[in-house]
Amino acid sequence: MSQARYNELHAGLTVHTITGETGPHAFRSLEKTMLDFKPKTILEIGFNRGSSALSFLLASEPWGAVVYSVDVRRNVQPCVDYLQELFPNRFHYIKTDSARLLEDGLFPLETVDLVFIDGNHSYEYIRKDTETAFALNARYILYDEYTHPPHMKDVRKVMKELDLVLVEDYSVTFNDKQLFQGLTERRVL
Ligand SMILES: C[S@@+](CC[C@H](N)C(=O)[O-])C[C@H]1O[C@@H](n2cnc3c(N)ncnc32)[C@H](O)[C@@H]1O
Repeated sequence: MSQARYNELHAGLTVHTITGETGPHAFRSLEKTMLDFKPKTILEIGFNRGSSALSFLLASEPWGAVVYSVDVRRNVQPCVDYLQELFPNRFHYIKTDSARLLEDGLFPLETVDLVFIDGNHSYEYIRKDTETAFALNARYILYDEYTHPPHMKDVRKVMKELDLVLVEDYSVTFNDKQLFQGLTERRVL
């Protein structure tokens, strides 16, 4: 899969970014996560304007993974339409506070293969989003903040509390930009 194609498609995400998007420098790392584990269904918590959703959709093109992105953001419809046009029947946007996703019955599946946690980075939300991943029987959880100093303590606290083990540290530096993330797996006892 080509970085150049990602860069070209990323330019079509025309809504302004609000905070911390993964961006082109993260494509290779997110692509590797996809290729290593080939999830068929992905729940992304924290869409922003679609940068990481684009990575997941593009990298999983060979097997057509379906991505559900959750965010509180309004006014991102142009990016939602853009991804739905590029990847027909493979992308869904759910506008909600991630803490309410399951209790309000907004998520259409009972299980999901991988959950990417990149929404509200407080301890309470990291824990709640992880519990959502558990409720959906997610085999893998990818934490955007796994090695990021402001939040890594909270991510690791939740991992310890909920008995998650690190499968692989996908943090990378690319063009002098750092990306902080790690994939965890629920421990099978
Ligand atoms: C760091 S950005 C996500 C970046 C995105 N994954 C990417 O790579 O472009 C965090 C996003 O989480 C969203 N967010 C914050 N709190 C949230 C919540 N409680 N529920 C859902 N989304 C939330 C913000 O609106 C923001 O778009």
